[in-house]
Amino acid sequence: MEPARLGSHLVVHLNRLKENFEALKKRYKENNILFMVKADGYGHGIIEIVKYAFNDLGVREFGVATLGEAITLRRHLSSLPFEIYVFSDLQFFQPELSELYLEYRLIPVISHNDDLDVVLNNPKFSNLPLCLKFNTGMNRLGLSLEKSEEIIKSLKAVNRCKIFHLMSHLANASMPMSTNKRNIGQKEKFKELKEQFISAGIELERTSLANSGALEQESCKEETHIRPGLMLFGATSMAPQHVDKSWWQGKIISELKTKVLNVFDVSKGDPLGYGSTPCPQAGTVAIIALGYGDGISTRFMGATLYHKGVAGKVCARVCMDMTYVLFPKGTDIKRGENFWIWDGDSKMFMELARETKTLPYELVIQLTTRVPRIYQID
Ligand SMILES: Cc1ncc(COP(=O)(O)O)c(C=O)c1O
Repeated sequence: MEPARLGSHLVVHLNRLKENFEALKKRYKENNILFMVKADGYGHGIIEIVKYAFNDLGVREFGVATLGEAITLRRHLSSLPFEIYVFSDLQFFQPELSELYLEYRLIPVISHNDDLDVVLNNPKFSNLPLCLKFNTGMNRLGLSLEKSEEIIKSLKAVNRCKIFHLMSHLANASMPMSTNKRNIGQKEKFKELKEQFISAGIELERTSLANSGALEQESCKEETHIRPGLMLFGATSMAPQHVDKSWWQGKIISELKTKVLNVFDVSKGDPLGYGSTPCPQAGTVAIIALGYGDGISTRFMGATLYHKGVAGKVCARVCMDMTYVLFPKGTDIKRGENFWIWDGDSKMFMELARETKTLPYELVIQLTTRVPRIYQID
């Protein structure tokens, strides 16, 4: 057996990624996909995810957050001709680093006027694809709408009459696209912005606005591109009270699997682990081989985990390598058995995120490198 499979590991079912991708493509037939693979492919392992998406799904555009992520990706898969967009930490502060965009064929998503100045005023960047991201209401990064006139002038001044990709980002995509005021406002502002560029004689080659939440509501089809992240890994990003607005039936592409290290019966009040947490009731405790050293944070205290369909509760402080799960007395659970923290069931996955006060985004991303990712095609 592969050594990585001996202990706790995350199984990544690549065929489920394909099913999710195809389901999205069916609804967005005319749009190109810029697949967001920030944070190590949302925790699933960026290199394997991108390799599979390129070879088996035909994806040619990927988005990461940092210059470092982009360079690592390019270096690992240097023979594959895909585009890499760098979204936030561009490192244009250091002039010598900005040259790395040319060396590694990377596309900086320009979201700050200072960075735009660097690109427009330096002849070495004259062939760099111009990707501009405007702030229409996210209020994080983004070129200012108030400065759009000025920006158009500065583009014309250096004879750059084509924008390779114009984009913005939605703040409330997890809420209804058709009624949420901010969503309506952001869409309207982006539309006006596009019109402003076009009427000034600036060609817009590509445009995009939507991330998963908007796509789950079939919004933003009028743009050339869509930018899904989370949904392709299976979860919904809709707020719980609005899941009924989503058509998305994604499959969670991963399973987090570990082993039962010990099983013993307890009485109510028995002290458990660091801090001697009193056991809330009598039952059978299973010690499983994952802890905060693996990314199972202390916020898992109180969360529900299942074994062969029987619900147990994390009942004591999570340790670095182990977690206590309390089951009803006599539950069929044995030392050495496999134990799943999540098994691909979407409802269970979303519920676990809620109970651990995290977002579905965080559950996989927070897993540390101690948990090997194992790729499988079923
Ligand atoms: C600019 C931008 N577009 C798209 C995405 C993808 O978002 P989601 O994972 O919600 O689809 C992100 C996520 O971080 C983002 O920052």
